[in-house]
Amino acid sequence: PVLVVDYGAQYAQLIARRVREAQVYSEVVPHTATVAEIVTKEPAAIVLSGGPASVYAEGAPAVDPALFAAGVPVFGICYGFQAMAQALGGTVEHTGTREYGRTDLGAGTGVLHDGLPGRHPVWMSHGDCVTKAPEGFAVTASSEGAPVAAFEDTERRFAGVQYHPEVAHSPHGQEVLRRFLHDIAGIRPQWTTSSIVDEQVERIRAQVGDGKAICGLSGGVDSAVAAALVQRAIGDRLTCVFVDHGLLRAGERAQVERDYVSATGVRLVTVDARERFMAALAGVTDPEEKRKIIGREFIRVFEQAELDLQVEAGEKYRFLVQGTLYPDVVESGGGTGAANIKSHHNVGGLPDDLEFELVEPLRALFKDEVRRVGLELGLPETIVHRQPFPGPGLGIRIIGEVNAARLEILRAADAIAREELTAAGLDRDIWQCPVVLLADVRSVGVQGDGRTYGHPVVLRPVSSEDAMTADWTRLPYDVLERISTRITNEVAEVNRVVLDVTSKPPGTIEWE
Ligand code: XMP
Repeated sequence: PVLVVDYGAQYAQLIARRVREAQVYSEVVPHTATVAEIVTKEPAAIVLSGGPASVYAEGAPAVDPALFAAGVPVFGICYGFQAMAQALGGTVEHTGTREYGRTDLGAGTGVLHDGLPGRHPVWMSHGDCVTKAPEGFAVTASSEGAPVAAFEDTERRFAGVQYHPEVAHSPHGQEVLRRFLHDIAGIRPQWTTSSIVDEQVERIRAQVGDGKAICGLSGGVDSAVAAALVQRAIGDRLTCVFVDHGLLRAGERAQVERDYVSATGVRLVTVDARERFMAALAGVTDPEEKRKIIGREFIRVFEQAELDLQVEAGEKYRFLVQGTLYPDVVESGGGTGAANIKSHHNVGGLPDDLEFELVEPLRALFKDEVRRVGLELGLPETIVHRQPFPGPGLGIRIIGEVNAARLEILRAADAIAREELTAAGLDRDIWQCPVVLLADVRSVGVQGDGRTYGHPVVLRPVSSEDAMTADWTRLPYDVLERISTRITNEVAEVNRVVLDVTSKPPGTIEWE
């Protein structure tokens, strides 16, 4: 792999993704990894990422000069560029000139920049700068605040840039990164969607042997792609379980039972647990309580389904398929305990004491790669590009007690909102748009000749990169108008549609 050494900025994962866009496999490693540990992984190249520190700051993570004696190509970015300069005998100075944001780069020479526009914008974020390149390096670009903004030593296969090539604000950045990987480091681009599928299928076969595997489908992208990969590898020795907890949106069960099954040929067992969930949720209004009940019931239903399958097969299902993604792997390795804002329930997020061996075919993949793998496996667009939907479903979008009648109302309103957003071509622009029923609130309205006393629904359209932060989406007024008119006309119990204009933070995306 190409190893991206993380100096604590938010850019390491992004760099790793960009490396993969150049069709080269990459992984993120913490800057605390020793040179010996790095070398053991036999990296094809190393990328030193940007970081918040100044190379002069007390406790700033230095680069062990031994790294440059390992014979591995190295690319330094921003802080990594400066640390590299310093480790190899160049000069880094605190000149007092800072560059933050869009900057003009004067460039034109060397492998990295040859043939690019002589002046082009790049994204800078630095206080210190390199004033003298180390011996053997050619300086190939500069900016007003960074006399040495890029250097390269093609002999030793070292290079670096002061700016951030990985961000969209550096329009030629991806090309520069690609040139380092392919032309300076000499790595052959082999990380393609079909190679990912082949490799994972082989791994799954090796892991599962002639055992049986089970997978909980949620209707979401990750479990759908994970199961499709495992199905490709072991066929009918995989059984998928889909729990209908009654908290699904209109058409979701059919989408899994019909579209997904016909696309993959997966063996699917649907458990209709609607009554059980309704009974367990009766009288409950507290959001955390609802989440706990739904999570607990889900596990019980899944365990029972597993037992039934085992009896039917006369054999234990030893393997559990989960759609864990690479960012979760990196972040759980990071070890910084984030506060538990809401107890998230992942369908398929089952407890360890189920005694399964985990099969996690997406563990090395980013979300965009998962989507491409899904398409490669023939999954329908409606599944591959599905927006996120929470495991507890509509249960946390009814504010107040959840019951069948209220679910009907919310399901109808939600279907209209989704239809209109899709018709307006907005699905890829918004992250998701929860529709929330304020079931215990009533307001007065007028419809036809009569007074109404109905419930409000809230539209919560959000834009986001990763759901950690979000902004409310400025939907076109005419789309909002159509949604509002249709909901109040077609859903008898709803007489008011309101728009949530809160970003996250302070609001979370879901209301509960
Ligand atoms: P919040 O409401 O925390 O939501 O801003 C962030 C993202 O997570 C989704 N979400 C969940 N997903 N199980 C899930 O699988 C859950 O329990 C859950 N709760 C929230 C939410 O839809 C948004 O995309």
